Amino acid sequence: MAANDFQARDVDAGKPTSARLYHYFLTGEPVFRSDQIFGDKVYDELPFLHTWTMHNRAFLVRAVRFMVSQGIRQFLDIGSGLPTGGNTHEVAREIDPSARVVYVDKDLDAVARAHQLLQHEGSTKTTAIIEGDLRDTEQIIGHPESQRLLDFDEPIGLLIVSVLPFVPDDSDPHRLVGQLRDCLPTGSQFAATHVSLEDADDHTKQQGTIAASLYKDTADPVQLRDRATFVRFFDGFTIQDPPGVTYATDWLPDQPVDLDEPARRCNFAAVGRKL
Ligand SMILES: C[S@@+](CC[C@H](N)C(=O)[O-])C[C@H]1O[C@@H](n2cnc3c(N)ncnc32)[C@H](O)[C@@H]1O
Repeated sequence: MAANDFQARDVDAGKPTSARLYHYFLTGEPVFRSDQIFGDKVYDELPFLHTWTMHNRAFLVRAVRFMVSQGIRQFLDIGSGLPTGGNTHEVAREIDPSARVVYVDKDLDAVARAHQLLQHEGSTKTTAIIEGDLRDTEQIIGHPESQRLLDFDEPIGLLIVSVLPFVPDDSDPHRLVGQLRDCLPTGSQFAATHVSLEDADDHTKQQGTIAASLYKDTADPVQLRDRATFVRFFDGFTIQDPPGVTYATDWLPDQPVDLDEPARRCNFAAVGRKL
């Protein structure tokens, strides 16, 4: 669906989605009252969720700045979420106003709000939001807006930040990332984060397991993965090292990192360059 023919459709307000919950944790502003009620139940288990989402988002911003510093001028941001501060096109354009961005999300509120923002800004010439699902990479790559805005002969910045936990093993997320990688020209960069409890302290492991299980009642159940499984998403990429595979907080930080913060150890992050 092209950005300029997007029509808002009914959403199931009763069933929270990962996009709306993430937005609530990040901004404190629920889209629907049901998101707040459900989000507060998750908060009861993991009070550091606001901090976790802030760190995740801050990684995305640093990764985009890093990619622009490496010469990337076009981005495919899959699972972009509801627009908030530090959207990819805003960050990239601080450095190069001509940067082009295609956002993709399967969440109707995320798509509708991004569409509204881009229309309002008048930036649809260089930025688009498409309704798409990571599980259908062909649709994403072949979409007229991707074809209009992305030059597949020039390096592309692929962002899949905190989205893979919502793609279960039976959808084979490694194969999906591989399909996208194969469409990218050499020199492209790939950034990802993934929630994990592998390195968490015992208390956080316990609470995090309960919080993750609550997501079974949402549109987007969560799958936790370990470091080794996260690293395999970078097959065919050379991981930027330093810093290597780190926690999101620790990836080229631009402010001091609180090493004792429990949220820190629960989000793996990396950026890789396509060989
Ligand atoms: C936790 S939010 C992350 C938002 C943003 N990437 C960030 O890191 O700030 C996850 C987003 O991924 C989207 N998502 C989940 N599964 C998806 C899928 N299969 N295809 C496309 N988007 C998906 C959700 O709708 C949501 O907007």
